[in-house]
Amino acid sequence: MARECWIYYCVVGLLFASFTTTKGSPAGTKIPKKYAVNLDVAPEKRWQQVAIEHKELIKDVHSVITSVIPEDLLPYVELIATDLDYYIAKPYAGEMRGFAAALNISVGDVVMANLIYDVSAFCTSIISQDANGQIWHSRNLDYSFTDILKNITIAVDFQSKGVTEYSIITYAGYVGALTGQRPNVFTVTVDERDQGSIIWNLVIGILDKQVSPVSFLVRDALAYDRNFSAAVDRLSYTATAADAYFIMGGAKEGEGAIITKGRLAPDDVWKLDPASGRWFLVETNYDHWTTPPPSDNRREPAIKAISALGQKNISVMNLFDVMSTPKVLNPHTTYTVVMSAAKPSLMQTWIRI
Ligand SMILES: *[C@@H]1O[C@H](CO)[C@@H](O)[C@H](O)[C@H]1NC(C)=O
Ligand SMILES: *[C@@H]1O[C@H](CO)[C@@H](O)[C@H](O)[C@H]1NC(C)=O
Ligand SMILES: *[C@@H]1O[C@H](CO)[C@@H](O)[C@H](O)[C@H]1NC(C)=O
Ligand SMILES: *[C@@H]1O[C@H](CO)[C@@H](O)[C@H](O)[C@H]1NC(C)=O
Repeated sequence: MARECWIYYCVVGLLFASFTTTKGSPAGTKIPKKYAVNLDVAPEKRWQQVAIEHKELIKDVHSVITSVIPEDLLPYVELIATDLDYYIAKPYAGEMRGFAAALNISVGDVVMANLIYDVSAFCTSIISQDANGQIWHSRNLDYSFTDILKNITIAVDFQSKGVTEYSIITYAGYVGALTGQRPNVFTVTVDERDQGSIIWNLVIGILDKQVSPVSFLVRDALAYDRNFSAAVDRLSYTATAADAYFIMGGAKEGEGAIITKGRLAPDDVWKLDPASGRWFLVETNYDHWTTPPPSDNRREPAIKAISALGQKNISVMNLFDVMSTPKVLNPHTTYTVVMSAAKPSLMQTWIRI
């Protein structure tokens, strides 16, 4: 009897969970599960729930990733893993160790997965200012290994004393941030710049201990910066192992920028300028002053869609539609996010299924 009841509750619970996670979600999408990660507990313990609930899937991801890593790189990753606290800043070293322990896999595997976030990441990010001066941020994250990543896409609220300090959308097992919001301060996304020898540069850079992985730097900004310009400065002037585009929206009118980042300093910082008509900025994976290759022109359809929408027409669902424009939305898109730092509760994510 007790057992039947238990099964009954499980089934009802599952049905309820599946209803609540897809409620109001447009066809072809699903809302990711949200986790609270408690910053007041030791880094090693923070991600246990996430690790437990995605154990097998994370291991599958790791085996896919390991298969694409050049074999002669592995000893260097192992060097980082064996002296993790020396090479990787707090709290990321401890959080990765926690994942390794919870998943019963080597620290090296977790480190590798965390470092190669930008193998073939293609993305589109748009900052826009609406007719009331509110700043909006929308993004698609496109990736190789799309199928499996969709299954581990999660929303995370980092909390202290029960209050959300900042939120990210991530893949279970990754501790850095490629999409995040600090409520009432800023929103940020990373689009990949320059491909090729990134993995090598990243690993060698870390071994030289001069540079931060891009996604850890973004999480630092979310954790420590209390205003838009401080975050722009941190992301512009901190040395990183890889180039990147940082797309940023603030909580105040006019606060919007795309940083085209070289390893040591920005090559360009492009700002919103609504007074002279520049009320939106679009970034895909090419420098904004160059022409994207015809084989991968997501910029033009994105510009057309946001222009057609117009400044008076901006809303969560209308930006979702912009991000659903063909090419901007493509078979590699894993998720879409719309957020606005001034109205943090609007932050919405759709996994593309
Ligand atoms: C952890 O993995 C090792 C093999 O790598 C295995 O021998 C051991 O039983 C595993 N432990 C648990 C708790 O699953
Ligand atoms: C992802 O999840 C779906 C359904 O939940 C499943 O059909 C599919 O096989 C999973 N894909 C991978 C690569 O694990
Ligand atoms: C932003 O934060 C930085 C560092 O905390 C501080 O020095 C600066 O005065 C702040 N700027 C504004 C405009 O509040
Ligand atoms: C709002 O956007 C839709 C397309 O999404 C467009 O048809 C409509 O004309 C726009 N309305 C205004 C007032 O710009």
